Amino acid sequence: MPETNRQIVLDQLPQGKLTAEHFKLIEAPRPEPGEGEALVRTRYISLDAANRAWMQGATYRSALNAGQVMAGGALSEVVESRDPALAPGDLVWGDTGWQDYAVVQPKRVAKLPKMEPVTHLLSVFGVAGLTAYFGLLECGKPKPGETVVVSAAAGSVGSLVGQIAKIKGCRVVGVAGGEAKGRWLVDELGFDAAVDYKAGDLRRQLKEACPTGIDVYFDNVGGDILETCLFAMNVHGRIACCGAVSQYDAAPPQHGPRGVPGLIVTKRLTLQGFVVTDFADRNAEALADLQAWVAEGKLKVQEDILEGLETTPQALIGLLAGENRGKRMVRVG
Ligand SMILES: NC(=O)c1ccc[n+]([C@@H]2O[C@H](COP(=O)([O-])OP(=O)(O)OC[C@H]3O[C@@H](n4cnc5c(N)ncnc54)[C@H](OP(=O)(O)O)[C@@H]3O)[C@@H](O)[C@H]2O)c1
Repeated sequence: MPETNRQIVLDQLPQGKLTAEHFKLIEAPRPEPGEGEALVRTRYISLDAANRAWMQGATYRSALNAGQVMAGGALSEVVESRDPALAPGDLVWGDTGWQDYAVVQPKRVAKLPKMEPVTHLLSVFGVAGLTAYFGLLECGKPKPGETVVVSAAAGSVGSLVGQIAKIKGCRVVGVAGGEAKGRWLVDELGFDAAVDYKAGDLRRQLKEACPTGIDVYFDNVGGDILETCLFAMNVHGRIACCGAVSQYDAAPPQHGPRGVPGLIVTKRLTLQGFVVTDFADRNAEALADLQAWVAEGKLKVQEDILEGLETTPQALIGLLAGENRGKRMVRVG
């Protein structure tokens, strides 16, 4: 085992767009676990749009500060343990940050099953899959025959939301950047239509793709796309508020959508924000469905895996710019 621990530090907090200059790679001594702790080796780091939101201030977790090791969820393997709850070889998920090694307390990490490919523990059987499942089914409450629209549709959460909505018998429209992503959603993932928000006139495009209006909007992006969908919602429509990626990589956050609260009132809409951990006591139920759908070939899993700890800053910058299809992660070792 190397004596050193490579770490990516958030060197400065971004005031505008995130760049590679906001990070620096340092080498620290490999940490030693104390009594009741374990040493874990990072295998895959999960790249999440929320990583950028944490730099703007406190969210469902505390804000990030300049000078600290960049936070982030990762799949790691226990290499040494001084607690009976964890043994060498165990796989764990936790916010262990962008580094080769971390010391963890067993109660701060989740022990994961062994499976192939192990990367599915970060995508369809991880936060992305659970977020798509609970956000769509519990907040969106789609009924067969209804029209479901999802934004960031080619991303990790969105690509699963659209497919689950198809499994539930809905008409599904994805909003994504660029024609190629739209073609992929329709040809490979079975979406009924796709809308390219970068091509302009989103209102007209949505009207064509959703001739009977929108019943459920799964909102990953906020901003102008949320505003446009608000105008296209049907009476008694539901909006699952999952995230606002259009607002993360800028400061200060842009203006909110027009039509609030007027359209919410006249269309009797329900907007429900959620955080995936709200449903943690029902994860087993969700995982059983997700596993069955993957096994039956109804749910396709797209993963976008980059190599090497040093690529992590660029991997996040690229995710915010829409480089990824499906779940982006970095293989560390
Ligand atoms: N509530 C929860 O518990 C929870 C849990 C996990 C994730 N989330 C949320 O889920 C959303 C997706 O996150 P993710 O980490 O899975 O990332 P992701 O969807 O895999 O990637 C982010 C995507 O956002 C799109 N995007 C970037 N800027 C945009 C803009 N200005 N307007 C429209 N689309 C834009 C890009 O695709 P294009 O090429 O289409 O632009 C990019 O691929 C985020 O809002 C995140 O905060 C919420």
